[in-house]
Amino acid sequence: MTSAPDFPRIELPEMTHENPSGTTDAWFDRTMHMDQYGARLPFGSLGAKGLTHRFVELSGADQGQELDVLDASGGYASACLGAGSPVVGAALTRAVAEAGYVTDEIHSWERAKLLAFLFGEGGLWAERFPADQYHVAGRNSGSEGMELALRLALEHRFDHRRLRPAEGRGQRDIVLAFEGAWHGWTGGVLPLLNKRHYRVGLPSVAAEPYGFTVRHIPFGQVDAARDFFARHGDRVLAVVVEAVQGDAGIIVPPAGYLREVARLCTDSGALLVADEVLTFAKTGQFFAMTDEQGPIPTDVTVVGKSLGMGALSTSMVIARRHLTVRATGAISTSDLRPLTCAVIRAGLEHIQSEGLLERSRELGEHLAKRLDEELVTPYPELYTESRGAGVMHGVELTRRAADRLGELRETMIRSGVFVEFMGGAGRRSGNLRYVFPTMRVAPPLICTTADADAVVERLAAGSRRFLETHA
Ligand SMILES: Cc1ncc(COP(=O)(O)O)c(C=O)c1O
Repeated sequence: MTSAPDFPRIELPEMTHENPSGTTDAWFDRTMHMDQYGARLPFGSLGAKGLTHRFVELSGADQGQELDVLDASGGYASACLGAGSPVVGAALTRAVAEAGYVTDEIHSWERAKLLAFLFGEGGLWAERFPADQYHVAGRNSGSEGMELALRLALEHRFDHRRLRPAEGRGQRDIVLAFEGAWHGWTGGVLPLLNKRHYRVGLPSVAAEPYGFTVRHIPFGQVDAARDFFARHGDRVLAVVVEAVQGDAGIIVPPAGYLREVARLCTDSGALLVADEVLTFAKTGQFFAMTDEQGPIPTDVTVVGKSLGMGALSTSMVIARRHLTVRATGAISTSDLRPLTCAVIRAGLEHIQSEGLLERSRELGEHLAKRLDEELVTPYPELYTESRGAGVMHGVELTRRAADRLGELRETMIRSGVFVEFMGGAGRRSGNLRYVFPTMRVAPPLICTTADADAVVERLAAGSRRFLETHA
């Protein structure tokens, strides 16, 4: 296991300050940083190294007490190489000194090296995305990547020169999404989210003349997909799918489902957009749109989170060459910046040379077994089932645990492990069962078997402690 590093020391008086409303608060970021959670956790981070966070209690009787906490979250599943990666550090240092910062109006040697490494002859992803069929763009975040993917779909039914619907595509006004979907929070993708909580009260895209209507079908039900296409296939512009649903509770679809969705798209002339922002490099392979037959073909694939190696926020949109935007219509300052390219390339080369994906595949099998044996079986009061692969697992909570989610999280941290919780798909149609919030166990790719065992032991200890204190 990674040994605990040295962290800055802070003294108790430095921990609190008077905030603008005259009351005492912990740390200034608590006052200044907009609270988007409603209830933040009462801990501060002093830093992290490898898989270990050094947290400190910010309030209560234990205020000032420091905790070493194992990371099974990876910062919303983005820090695939953990904290303080020398590989990322060296790439950043070199690129800041040498790479420059031209936008894509000027060719960049650093960008060329990354794209050749990925899509050139013999490239890492060249088989899945041959360079004569696909091209790419970069964005700042997963949400922006998904916005560009949608934009490509909308532009596809549009004649850029005449500024009117393209011949024969004008009637394609449906974007098909799935119940429980999460694709980011920005305006364009909002209508794809089918939870009222995420959407109601916020503007949606105009339905006509060039907007789209979003329809949701239950995820993982092949009959529902076939039925929808049988009735509306000629109106479907695009299907937007997460290969494994994240926010819905790490929901893995049945074998064959994604390939059948791809076939329905091809047969009806709809575009298939895969949101692999979360699943990228998480399921034991780079792309979760894969089955025993190999890559499942997509028209657009968006990857993010781990792509930035935990150091940069970035995403990449890989789209068929015929999918483009109108000239100058979607230029972004941050489209594959040379510095970003250098970090991505160094990280991916490292993942490849160290065999981290292959290792995470085996780790995933081990983790799935341990989560079942150490959490789901012994604690039926708290957990209903675990699912997932690689370094992306979900342990679904019971109603009892879901009702006290905040306390459960705090107990886990005090037991030495940091996990995040997904909202859960809730009640859906198609007789799909209610999905409660789900604990996401998604350690960085550098996690070893010993680390994974320690994560599970601490989760089990936290579960015991939670039950003792909430009998
Ligand atoms: C499946 C999926 N798509 C898109 C996003 C949005 O990514 P970002 O937070 O980088 O904007 C997320 C983030 O959680 C996600 O899980």
